Amino acid sequence: MKPNWQGPMLTRRQQLAGVAGGLIMGALPSTLHAAGDEPLKDLAARKGILFGTAISAGQSSPMADPGYGAIVARECAVLVPENEMKVYVLGHDPQALNFGPADRIAAFARDNRMKLRGHTLLWNYGKYISPALAETVRATGAEKWLRAYIAQVAGHFGDRIYSWDVVNETIDPKTGEIRDTVFTQALGFDALKIAFEAAQEHAPHAQRVYNDYMSWEVGNETHRAGVLRLLERFRKENVPVDALGIQSHLGNDGSHSKLQRAEWKQFLDRVTAMGYRLLITEFDINDREMPRDIAQRDAQTAAVAKSYLDQMLAYPQLDQLLCWGLWDKHSWLNGFAPRADGLPQRPLPYDDALKPKPLRAAIADALRAAPVRKGIA
Ligand code: XIL
Repeated sequence: MKPNWQGPMLTRRQQLAGVAGGLIMGALPSTLHAAGDEPLKDLAARKGILFGTAISAGQSSPMADPGYGAIVARECAVLVPENEMKVYVLGHDPQALNFGPADRIAAFARDNRMKLRGHTLLWNYGKYISPALAETVRATGAEKWLRAYIAQVAGHFGDRIYSWDVVNETIDPKTGEIRDTVFTQALGFDALKIAFEAAQEHAPHAQRVYNDYMSWEVGNETHRAGVLRLLERFRKENVPVDALGIQSHLGNDGSHSKLQRAEWKQFLDRVTAMGYRLLITEFDINDREMPRDIAQRDAQTAAVAKSYLDQMLAYPQLDQLLCWGLWDKHSWLNGFAPRADGLPQRPLPYDDALKPKPLRAAIADALRAAPVRKGIA
């Protein structure tokens, strides 16, 4: 999907809705679910897990839509902005950053007593670094720009953010190597090191996460190997990284072979053996390859989720589970990976009419089945 370098443009009405919305959300939720349908955040909390979602500050935000707002407030203990803390929204001048949209999300989280994750200080992926940003970084000097930017962003939110995706997607899945960007051209591996050290300096209380989309699916072998090498190097060079964020944008039809599960286990075992904690940061299920029929599709999606989450939640090191949105209607996958038959994707726990789907039940079941752990909460 094409990033919006200017950041989201909000109408005056949306801005007002964003501000006012946070104050009324708490009053609505109880009417929306049948009795006994326990909020996901409560099911998760009993196991030492924080449950939450990404939200946006634009038209599709829970602040602009009270029905959605009520569901987010009821289900979630933690929020993360989908785009609003990225450089393409915040801007290129560390001294004049556009914090408005992210601040509206932070206010909504505060008003509803939710925690806040930060995403992301360095998205080291050329596709998301505009030519104008690259130019600014070159002109300023990569290290100087990066340190100034992280100081401002991490400093602005301070201890409101308990966990930061410090570096995002820096491994090229095709080669397993660190991506070539304006930052790594100038600094090599040190670009990543500087980002983590600056995060430690300016947000010392926050968990520091390396976040990426290597997954259990066939075709991810090189990506997984590259991420393991990176995590090893972080340890060898004493880079202050606490956890691996596993995005978990899943797909296919759930027919995972024993071999795949074994390989994924090997990967997770090696990551945790190095002392990293784990979190699921962007869970959703791309249903492009699944049938048209909605009942069949929802059943497959739920089956993939249950099987994946059972394997993941077995790790006591995993203490956060965030979806990339709760509402199909606004999933990024409709733009990023549209279905060939033109039907909308159904990747998230709530359907277009805001009704809970089998996917929500699968998440609830997996949480019920998970062992208790000592989480970050
Ligand atoms: C996506 C957003 O959902 C889109 O709205 C935006 O246009 C592009 O970025 N991995 C990540 C997220 O780390 O930041 C991405 O979010 C999805 C993939």
